[in-house]
Amino acid sequence: MRGFRLSSILTTVAVGASAALTNGRSFSYDGYKVFRVKTHAQPSVVQEKLSNITFEQWNHDVHSHIDIVLAPDQLPGFAELDLEYDIMHDDLGGSIAAESVHSSLWKRQAGGLSWFDSYHDYQDHIQYLQSLHDLFPDNSEIISSGSSYENRSLNGIHLWGAGGPGKPAVLYHGTVHAREWISAATTEYLTYKLVTEYKAGDRATRAALDKYDFYIIPIVNPDGFVYTQTTQRLWRKNRQPGPNGSTCYGRDINRNWEFAWDANPLGASTNPCSQTYKGERPSDTPENQGLDRLVRRLRDGAGIKLYIDWHSYGQYILSPFGYKETLYAPELGKWTKAAQYVSDAIRDSSAALTTFTFGPSGATLYTTTGAAPDHVYSIGRADFSYTIELRDIGKHGFVLPPELIRPTVEEQWPGQKVLWTLLDEEFFDGVGLLRRLDGRQSTP
Ligand code: ARG
Ligand code: ZN
Repeated sequence: MRGFRLSSILTTVAVGASAALTNGRSFSYDGYKVFRVKTHAQPSVVQEKLSNITFEQWNHDVHSHIDIVLAPDQLPGFAELDLEYDIMHDDLGGSIAAESVHSSLWKRQAGGLSWFDSYHDYQDHIQYLQSLHDLFPDNSEIISSGSSYENRSLNGIHLWGAGGPGKPAVLYHGTVHAREWISAATTEYLTYKLVTEYKAGDRATRAALDKYDFYIIPIVNPDGFVYTQTTQRLWRKNRQPGPNGSTCYGRDINRNWEFAWDANPLGASTNPCSQTYKGERPSDTPENQGLDRLVRRLRDGAGIKLYIDWHSYGQYILSPFGYKETLYAPELGKWTKAAQYVSDAIRDSSAALTTFTFGPSGATLYTTTGAAPDHVYSIGRADFSYTIELRDIGKHGFVLPPELIRPTVEEQWPGQKVLWTLLDEEFFDGVGLLRRLDGRQSTP
């Protein structure tokens, strides 16, 4: 009886939340279309044509295609350009409506996988983290990595295994870009699997958690995330007002990190209205300040073994450096080899044979300054530091249908399990070789 009443209350709440997310946004994408325009390795020819119309661009890796969002009144002008393209969203407003949240489903079977069948609002994400802590009370704690401009706590979870806490850190950030919802689900799924597989006695999971402390923050840009659900689905930045009277809002938290913040004019924008606005000064966003404080605290403690900034979309595994295409770190060999193993594990585990491209981020994708992996490697002294861009490669982009949440998050688990086993491997580099030869010479 009590169960029945409870679930009907939750259903009522869910319907209200769902209506707010799908219909309540003040910015509507009804009638908008998203096209993947083919560039055939000559992006400047296509860009020249596109300069005659107004659009929003989703990608920066334009060598083979440009993904563009078109308002209804731009469609006739686009048709006249006579470009070759595939349709990603024929009705973007409809695709966004189809993302609607169903928060009642998972609450009725808390701890189960149904959380990953739909998208959720911010409050439910906070509650979900709490429910993961409740599943693993003696080996986890809820943490905060500071607070946002609008004063939301950057909540995360800290997990440890036998003899913990206090081991070297594995640090995951999700949703630095507000519209990349799948990155929250992915970091939550990895947490769920760590907890449940550890409790079930899975050997590799036990080995990882007994060796490393995990710090997982699924939504590091909560203000932006809330804004994508209340106001504008495709918002990317935080929600800080622009400098000196600018009417534009938001700084790109992933262009705001201190290391190499100003190293390359191509890496970020100085225009407060741009999607990649870097801020007025390094680390002048409250979100970055809190995140950096934790990075430095972990560095000064047991150190950072692995950092991953989870994004979408494009299917990439990217290591430093982002700020300079021609700069290769001494560790690039081991980072690339590890990324190759992760990529293989993802492909082999997925029914879709998902492929992830890997390499140093500036050279593989495009230049970024003030991005997290460069900073967490250079300032945070992380041994391994990556950006992972999740699915897809241009069918749905940022607006991934709910039925693809499960396969997208699930294929990351085998990838991470492989990666954790490599973190303390001795890679066969020149230094290791010399050390081994030295050892042999001094042994009679
Ligand atoms: N898409 C993310 C961003 O724009 C990650 C970029 C990856 N790094 C790079 N140097 N391209 O922030
Ligand atoms: Zn991103």
